[in-house]
Amino acid sequence: MRTLDVLLYLDATRVDLDADGAVAAIDILRATSTIAAALANGAEAVAPALSPEEAVEMRGDCGETLLGGERGNVKLDGFDLGNSPLEYTRAVVEGRTICFTTTNGTRLIRAAEGARRLFAGAFINISAVCRALEADCGNALLACAGTHGRLSLDDALFAGACVHRIKGAFDRLTDAARTAEALWLSRRGDLRAALREAEHAQTLLRFGYERDIDYAAQIDAAPVLPIYEAGRFRLRR
Ligand code: MLT
Repeated sequence: MRTLDVLLYLDATRVDLDADGAVAAIDILRATSTIAAALANGAEAVAPALSPEEAVEMRGDCGETLLGGERGNVKLDGFDLGNSPLEYTRAVVEGRTICFTTTNGTRLIRAAEGARRLFAGAFINISAVCRALEADCGNALLACAGTHGRLSLDDALFAGACVHRIKGAFDRLTDAARTAEALWLSRRGDLRAALREAEHAQTLLRFGYERDIDYAAQIDAAPVLPIYEAGRFRLRR
């Protein structure tokens, strides 16, 4: 009996994990979009940190590193990169490990790091993530970061899009999964417009990050599967 579930937003320090489950961590605007973009552009790994201080500490263990991430949506002092997926170009990230910290996204990842399998999911790699969840034999949890303990439209839309694609491989859908799918079906006609309505998108627009939102809406623009192992996301070799 396989169950497909959705965590609509993170409201605790740990995700309640099923021992048999695979998890897709979701922070469409912008952390998981940025992780997928970095790895698609040849980054060696992305190591999610809980705090800027932890990212700096991790730097020593990671070889050819860059520091990336944000607080308050802007690049941190002394960091090489912010949290815009468009900064993570091949010229900048190829062969590098990025020690990466964001307000909500990396917190979710660390809260779910005990999962049997953990992927980073975004619209830009939706097909790869859906294939991996379908092919896995156990339960699946689509875990949305949300924003400061509240639901984010962008994350819930993505969870719903995944439910719609893969529900046939599962025996049971939770109410949260059905709710996310209903949301997706109501808005799938214009993903870019739907993402722009999200509260966090409105914040990003005020900061001038319009292109990040449009990038995040591009289905399969970075068709890779970031897999979390030993504290880092990497692509399977
Ligand atoms: C987060 O982790 O809260 C977001 O990725 C913030 C952002 O868009 O920079």
